[in-house]
Amino acid sequence: MKISKPITLPCSVTLKNRLVKSAMSENMADNHRPGSRLLNLYKIWGEGEIGLIITGNIMVDKNELGEPDNVVLEDDTHIADFQAWTKAAKAHGSQIWAQINHPGRQAPAAISKTTFAPSPVQLKMGAMGFRIPQALSENEIKDIIQRFANTAALCKLSGFDGVQIHGAHGYLVSQFLSPIANQRPDQWGGSIENRMRFVLEIVKAIRNKVGAQFPIGIKINSADFQTGGFSEEDSVIVVKALEQSGIDMVEISGGTYEAASMTGKDVKESTRAREAYFLPFAEKIRNSVNLPLLLTGGFRSSQAMNSALDSGAVDLIGIARPLAMEPHLCRRLLSEPNARCDLKPVKTGIPMIDNLGILEIGYYSLQLKRIADGENPDEHLSPLLAVPLLGLNYTSGILNSFLKKLNLNF
Ligand SMILES: Cc1cc2nc3c(=O)[nH]c(=O)nc-3n(C[C@H](O)[C@H](O)[C@H](O)COP(=O)(O)O)c2cc1C
Repeated sequence: MKISKPITLPCSVTLKNRLVKSAMSENMADNHRPGSRLLNLYKIWGEGEIGLIITGNIMVDKNELGEPDNVVLEDDTHIADFQAWTKAAKAHGSQIWAQINHPGRQAPAAISKTTFAPSPVQLKMGAMGFRIPQALSENEIKDIIQRFANTAALCKLSGFDGVQIHGAHGYLVSQFLSPIANQRPDQWGGSIENRMRFVLEIVKAIRNKVGAQFPIGIKINSADFQTGGFSEEDSVIVVKALEQSGIDMVEISGGTYEAASMTGKDVKESTRAREAYFLPFAEKIRNSVNLPLLLTGGFRSSQAMNSALDSGAVDLIGIARPLAMEPHLCRRLLSEPNARCDLKPVKTGIPMIDNLGILEIGYYSLQLKRIADGENPDEHLSPLLAVPLLGLNYTSGILNSFLKKLNLNF
């Protein structure tokens, strides 16, 4: 079976098989550093024969968070905690990469004092707590590029085997790529050549810090699925340029907070049969680049995974939600040619709630918390319960941040 075959990346690093745990934000850090819950969660994933484990997004700036309890890595003060985390994940031969991120305009106003983005364009869902961002100055852009490089170097020091830039899902890198979020008249906006300057400078700055042998990957949108947004044509141009820049792997995804296509909403019936909903785009991009492609979104059976690899369209298989329900799933996928992990649709029956991308994310992040706390995932957990539970988690995180700002310790 192709999924069990090793693969060597352009930087000469070899992964033991083709199965990758895709990033799932844990929102479980202990004062923004990895504590016992994250250690436990990654120890369990590390036992499960996953070729490569990619962490949930780690922020490059403690003042710019996507969620209240994100991990942040911007200096070496707590490096020992990070080293303990990577050691736990790697104990059984998996590699671990850190996904590094800056939320830009997707930083909730309740947990950030200021919000920055390429241009002052607010999310359409601004009323849900996202402010109008301030346009970044030239110096601030350069500072963030250096922050990505600094965090990547600290990741190397922490024992991570590589880094993945989060260039998808509407966060800052993806905002620069989008003609909707990026309306800058300078060298960072306008043509696709200008809009991709930010990400290419990040890759260059990281490579300068980590050297030629350290893997650098990126997660990128096939498209934003918004009229006038980042298109498939743009994406092909960017991936070609990333290949030239010496990137080691591209993970294909899609969507933003405004159009949450990453979880496979509104998938066509013809695509559903092949499970992976961004496979048609992967097939298109395969004709333009030779670099390793990782495809994530919708894979549920070893058969579909092997057939995607056999077709030559992709080289690696990304799995997220199934690993929140069965953390050792990859063992089964690798040993049983007909293994499946079907997930129940996350639906409350209330269309307004069911249409929110946050419901899927909320439901599975609760399952991650169960695993981290030593419990089994609960397939009977009601999606309806996930809404207030997520709300509580979120509110308590926001309250904690607020109390910390007042220097009150509870
Ligand atoms: C709880 C949760 C958190 C997520 N957090 C991230 C993240 O931090 N970074 C990221 O790139 N994708 C994130 N995703 C998206 C997944 O990596 C993946 O692209 C998506 O779930 C589709 O893959 P799947 O069908 O295998 O679940 C998250 C998904 C879930 C369910």
